[in-house]
Formats: sequence, C-alpha cells, structure tokens
Amino acid sequence: MIRGNGGELHQLAEGDTPVMTTAQGGPVADDQNTLKVGPRGPALIEDFHFREKIFHFDHERIPERVVHARGYGAHGYFETYESLAKYTRADLFQRAGEKTPAFVRFSTVAGSEGSADLARDVRGFAVKIYTKEGNWDLVGNNIPVFFIQDAIKFPDVIHSVKPEPDRAFPQAASAHDNFWDFISLTPESMHMIMWVMSDRAIPRSFRFMEGFGVHTFRLLDAKDESTFVKFIWKPKLGLQSVVWNEAVKINGADPDFHRRDLWDAIQSGNFPEWELNVQLFDQTFADSFDFDVLDPTKLIPEEILKPIPIGRLVLDRMPDNFFAETEQVAFMTQNVPPGIDFSNDPLLQGRNFSYLDTQLKRLGSPNFTHIPINAPKCPFAHFQQDGHMAMRNPVGRTNYQPNSRGEGPREDPARGFRSFAEQIDAPKVRLRAESFADHYSQARQFFNSQTVPEQKHIAMALTFELSKVEAPVIRERMVAHLLNIDEALGATVADKLGMEKLPKPADAAVTPRDDLPASPALSIIQN
Ligand code: HEM
Repeated sequence: MIRGNGGELHQLAEGDTPVMTTAQGGPVADDQNTLKVGPRGPALIEDFHFREKIFHFDHERIPERVVHARGYGAHGYFETYESLAKYTRADLFQRAGEKTPAFVRFSTVAGSEGSADLARDVRGFAVKIYTKEGNWDLVGNNIPVFFIQDAIKFPDVIHSVKPEPDRAFPQAASAHDNFWDFISLTPESMHMIMWVMSDRAIPRSFRFMEGFGVHTFRLLDAKDESTFVKFIWKPKLGLQSVVWNEAVKINGADPDFHRRDLWDAIQSGNFPEWELNVQLFDQTFADSFDFDVLDPTKLIPEEILKPIPIGRLVLDRMPDNFFAETEQVAFMTQNVPPGIDFSNDPLLQGRNFSYLDTQLKRLGSPNFTHIPINAPKCPFAHFQQDGHMAMRNPVGRTNYQPNSRGEGPREDPARGFRSFAEQIDAPKVRLRAESFADHYSQARQFFNSQTVPEQKHIAMALTFELSKVEAPVIRERMVAHLLNIDEALGATVADKLGMEKLPKPADAAVTPRDDLPASPALSIIQN
C-alpha cells in the first residue's frame, strides 16, 4: 500500500500480486486518478487507460433474453443407465455407465433479468449435453404442455404476458388484461392455464421440479427406424411447491430464493439429481389416441404409457462466472445428435427456426459457438470462417469442399446426422388439423388429477388473477371456458369475482368428453 498525494490508499502489486494491465497488456501505474492538467483538472482525452476502462464498462450489457431472461445455471453430468442401442444410435446412449458433461439453466419465462424468483410462471429447464457427436440441447419447461399449438402465435402469447406497452407494468405477472384477453380468446391454452394456475407454477426450488421436453421427438436406430419419444426429467427429491402467500412473502424477503437454494445445495456438496425418463411409442400407438401426439398442448398420461428411466443428471459445480456461462449459454432446440430427430409438431418446427436467430441477436455474432460454454467438447471441423469475434479460422490455403488437395474435413454418410425419411404427400396449406381441436379434455383431466386442496389453490389463483382484470368481458370469457373444464370450478370463480350470472359455457369445437370422472363437488375457496 502507498498513500497517494490526496492522502488516499493505493493497492500496489507486490509479491505474487499480478500487475494490473490494460486490455492491450500495458502495465498500469495509477488506476485511481484520471490524467489531468493539474490536480483540479480539466481531464485529458489522451488518458487511454481511463477511456478504455469506461468504454468497456459502457458496453457491459447485452440484451437480456426476449423470454426466460431470469435464469440460473450449473454444471454437471449425464450418466446413461443402460444401452438404448435398440432405439437410438445416439452415441451417448450406447454404453451403460457413460458420463457426459452437461450444463443446465433454470429460468422463469416472463420476468426481466432482475425479477423475483417466486413469480407464478412457467420455469425453463434447459439442458445442454456435450456429447461426443456434438451438443444435444433439450430445451424444456417444468410443465409438460404449452400455451399454443403453432409457433406463429409465440410473439402474441409473449407480448400479452409481458408488461403492457403503454404503462410498462405489471412486471412478471400474468394478472392483467392483456394476458387474460389473449388467453380467453385462445382456447388451446386451457390445458396449460390449468397447470400455470396450479402449485406447479410456484416450485419450492429448482431441485423439486420436473422437466419436460414437451414435444414428441423421434429416436432413430442404426437402420434409421423411428420410435417416437417424450422426454421427462424427474427430480430425485420429489416434487414440492410453495403456496401463494408463502411465495409473496419469499419474493419480498429474498427475491433470489431459488438461486440461493441451488448455490447453497451445490456448494455444500448436496448435489441435486434428476432421472431422465422416456415414453416410447410407435405410430400405431400414436394413432390410438383421440388427440394428436404432434399437438404440444397435449401430454401422454403416465398411466397410459409409463415413463422409463434411462439415465441421471447430476449438478455438481457452479459456474466460475455467471455472465460467461449462465448468461452466454445459447440453447437451441435444433441441436440434436445423430439418432435423435424432430417430429412435425408445428411448435417445435418454429422453435427450430427461432433459437438460432435469437442467439445471433443476443450474443451479437455468428461465432457465438466459439464461446467456451457453447463450444462442443468433441473434435469438430468445418469451413465456416470470419465474422465478428472469430476465434477459429481454417488453417492453411483450403477453405472449401470439394478440393483437389484432399484437404480438410469431409462428410461421412455413415456417422453423420440423417433425418427420418418420412413420406409426406399433402397440399401446402395454412390449416390446423382436426386432431388438434379438443381443448378441454386434458385440462379437465389435469384438474381432476389434483387433490381437493390443490384444486382449491387453482380456484384461488384464477380468482386472484382475474380479479386484477379490468374488462368484465374478459372475465366472462374466461369463466365460460372454465365451465367447460369443470362446472364447479367455473361457478366458484364466477361467484368469487362477484359475477351476477354465469355466462354460457364457451363454444367448443369438440364437445367436451363426459366419460371422464367429474371432480368432487367444490365450494372451493369458502374458508
Ligand atoms: C428461450 C423453452 C417455445 C423462442 C427459452 C428457454 C427455454 C425455452 C427453457 C430458456 C433457455 C435458456 O435458459 O437460456 C421453451 C419451451 C417451449 C418454447 C419448452 C414450448 C414447448 C418457444 C417458441 C419460440 C421460442 C414457440 C419461438 C417460436 C424462444 C426464444 C428464447 C427462448 C427466442 C430466448 C433464447 C435466448 O435468448 O437464449 N425457451 N420455449 N420458444 N425461447 Fe423458448
């Protein structure tokens, strides 16, 4: 330490302390005072150290994610239980006991980067597995279905849930007119809404959440034979949620509650774990449902098709740097290794387009795969070159294929990615299949699967949320949908909202099925 001429203490390099340098590597003599004409100024523009330091600070922020802005990540590994060679040629599933490095980011969807952890919201559950055949990103949520059936509606659902454009509130809350207006005009969202109004949307911590790939994917074996698959992460600790009044208090007292929980657990060696389960089925089985397995607002009930555990994910290390890893990680549904393929789910197809685009916008360069958290951990070779921030360029003269020098990487039809050769013969149209038309049966099934206290929580959440809606017509439209899901639920919410008379149940494109058991009569939130 030495004392500057203003009497202030300066820390100086001594012993093993490295000398501070500029970004150009030049050693710095004084990091406390700008270069001035005399001790009282003015400052000199020649002070390159000051300019570089402030310039860099001014550019520290990158755009937050357009959705899932608030998130928290951790490193770990995926361990395969048994060989799945019978179903897939994906290398990570060939050998029992194989461990593959992984990075996970949990998130809320609607809130900004600085919002509170316990918001009533969907949680993102995005997993990047660094396989020997490239990165596999399973970009899922903690809810097995989604609000919309077609990706073209994604900007609308997200605009509606985010703060309203004129007033810029409410922050990170679905309790407002825009959201419920959109939802009440979008009956396909009813199943998801039941989940979002349930305790699932206020998990106790990330460690007590399930994760779902949502869409139907395909596994392809060595002969490119296809098996449909749904992916489900099940937490070893089981499922736990908080109730709304706990969530409100926690948000006030500690908005970082979920972050802190994951940090504390991992730092104390209490590594959280999830089992990866699959529901496997073929086309004949898919055809036996009265819903479409390509419709992301539907799930395959576990009672009908039991999930099989195929491996486990263990999170055992926090990132060294939050920005470098958790903020810069770029998940993309289109990152799949050979042996895993997409289905024609129209939401998945849209996502496969969207993520590359959004990463370019957010990270600013087509070379975002050069950032260590995004780079594959297997050997890779291609002729992509140049662009902003290029860290790797082709070495030598050859940067194209084919070339007569026999240089550089070549394709390998045997080991490379091959799509399932599905036969499709259909007109080009903007239509939705009839098989996507039933919006109430699974919403009702979910409501009926809940215990009476859980059903009460759903009714209370709906009442609370809709009580914030100013336009009576929106509340009525919502109650009209609820009546199609469960009459007692609709009637209770209407009563609690002070509606004088019940609206007519919403027109349903498909008559709701009444062969499903009705829920116990409810006077849900009386006490
Ligand atoms: C981000 C899941 C639908 C566009 C994310 C993230 C998750 C996720 C988990 C956060 C990734 C992270 O932690 O960095 C899902 C699920 C969906 C869905 C499960 C439906 C089943 C869609 C659709 C679109 C979309 C339909 C667009 C067509 C985006 C975008 C981001 C994002 C633009 C921000 C990515 C970034 O900046 O890193 N999504 N999403 N998502 N999603 Fe989705």
